[in-house]
Amino acid sequence: MKFFVDTADVDAIRELNDLGMIDGVTTNPSLIMKSGRDIKEVTREICEMVAGPVSAETVALDSDGMIAEGRELAKIADNITIKVPLTWDGLKACKVLTDEGRMVNVTLCFSANQALLAAKAGATFISPFIGRLDDLNLDGMELIGDIRTIYDNYAFETQILAASIRSANHMKDAALIGADVATAPPAVIRAMASHVMTDKGLDAFMADWAKTGQKIL
Ligand code: E4P
Repeated sequence: MKFFVDTADVDAIRELNDLGMIDGVTTNPSLIMKSGRDIKEVTREICEMVAGPVSAETVALDSDGMIAEGRELAKIADNITIKVPLTWDGLKACKVLTDEGRMVNVTLCFSANQALLAAKAGATFISPFIGRLDDLNLDGMELIGDIRTIYDNYAFETQILAASIRSANHMKDAALIGADVATAPPAVIRAMASHVMTDKGLDAFMADWAKTGQKIL
């Protein structure tokens, strides 16, 4: 499973990228707002740092506007993935932009039928939002499983990009169920390294080591 990091915080992206942990980046209007930076400037900086796909989201609500914004965002770098919402206009924009050979991430997906339409429109990525479904007491991971089955049934090439990931368990479950990519905030990727037994074991080793009075360096 590929890892994308879901943030516009360039310092956090740099740390994960230097570690070889990430294969791409996703941003959205809320993350751009949080960064406090100009969308083109911060996206350019991210694209120069990360070799893989960097999703930048359009904000027009009509297909012509999305297409125009998508083409403008695509000028930033070759690894831009244009993010459009899963609306009828978003599907129209997806078809036009993918026909032009651009990468398109169809976002805000909450049903298998929406994912089926995105694949028919040629989406490079479909982003089902796990956490926001869980927030409604629905099962976000079940949606990922349903999309996996449908895409495999018909050999659709659209990649399933598990989004709205809130926990390290979401990452494990997305990998088990066969998501192609998962995008998570930096803190969730870091949390994957944590285990209480690792901390406990390390504490015991350090206590015993102190009793030896030895040094390695
Ligand atoms: C995906 O591309 C979105 O940017 C993101 O995963 C949304 O996550 P949230 O529901 O935690 O805001």
